[in-house]
Amino acid sequence: MLLTGGAGFIGSQLARELVARGRVVRVLDALTYAGRAAHLSGVDCELVVGDITDPAAVAAALDGCGDVVHAAAESHVERSLTDPGGFVRTNVEGTRVLLQAAVDAGVRRFLHLSTDEVLGEVAEGALGPDAPTRPGNPYAASKAGAEALVHAWRKTHGLSAAMVRLVNCYGPRQHPEKAVPWWIRDALAGGPVPVQGRGTAARDWLFVEDAARGLAQALDCWQDGAIWHLAAHAQRPNLALCRAVVELVAARTGRTADIGFLPERQGQDIRYALDDAATRRALSWAPRVSLQDGLARTVAWVADEGLALWAEEG
Ligand SMILES: NC(=O)c1ccc[n+]([C@@H]2O[C@H](COP(=O)([O-])OP(=O)(O)OC[C@H]3O[C@@H](n4cnc5c(N)ncnc54)[C@H](O)[C@@H]3O)[C@@H](O)[C@H]2O)c1
Repeated sequence: MLLTGGAGFIGSQLARELVARGRVVRVLDALTYAGRAAHLSGVDCELVVGDITDPAAVAAALDGCGDVVHAAAESHVERSLTDPGGFVRTNVEGTRVLLQAAVDAGVRRFLHLSTDEVLGEVAEGALGPDAPTRPGNPYAASKAGAEALVHAWRKTHGLSAAMVRLVNCYGPRQHPEKAVPWWIRDALAGGPVPVQGRGTAARDWLFVEDAARGLAQALDCWQDGAIWHLAAHAQRPNLALCRAVVELVAARTGRTADIGFLPERQGQDIRYALDDAATRRALSWAPRVSLQDGLARTVAWVADEGLALWAEEG
């Protein structure tokens, strides 16, 4: 099978999960700033370096593949504020190229990774898979565009396709531009640890191993046309999560870093929430790692491996 974006954060965990389940995995990844070959060290899979917007590279990478799992994306909201065109190129045009190549190659099944952000801000409660998309930032808009293309290629070309929307994931091998590894790195360095606004924006936090298990289940329990929701039910305002990270780092270093406040993110969505009841039943899936344990494991990974990896490769 072909796994795009397999050298990134979630993709590299998913590669581990799929190989452990006996799948033969070929990764297609452009190795942007977010992807590293080292993320796949020890994983018995093939890595092809190529861009999903390049039809020839995608067609070659698809040779012999029955299934496609599409995890490649520009994924950082902050960057999408200054480079929206780059997000449309990779997340929309790249998905179009991949879908068309999958149809041309006669791919059996196409699983697309998406995000709670396509549904936009949710003041209270949680939204199910049929809620309308209302993306509130360019990243989310590009992911909503990708979802629309998946629906269209399924309907027009009969491609068997499904998608999984994930809440915020965290864990080993996440790029330090993202909140949790950023906070851990800065807390290990003594602080200050930055929080945007007053830290009131709330997210639901899913450990990456649980995310990868859910994604693999979506393949194993295939339902054409499904939109799966993977949530953790571990929602925290950013300030509370940051405090938890600072305490875990303090338990390791003996020093409690200060928290410093930055301006609020432009267009910040104050809360996202996915209703995942139907998905949990259909996929026999539920998270296994508590937020406290997942954060502790992430702190250990950053301290023991992440800092050295990031220093080595810039
Ligand atoms: N991290 C999260 O919390 C989260 C939550 C919901 C959904 N998602 C989705 O899950 C997927 C994976 O996210 P992630 O956090 O692992 O992202 P990431 O940024 O860590 O990894 C993305 C990977 O895609 C590769 N890539 C980027 N542009 C490419 C291109 N043009 N061609 C080929 N490869 C390219 C990068 O090199 C990298 O390895 C994305 O689709 C993202 O939208 C992530």
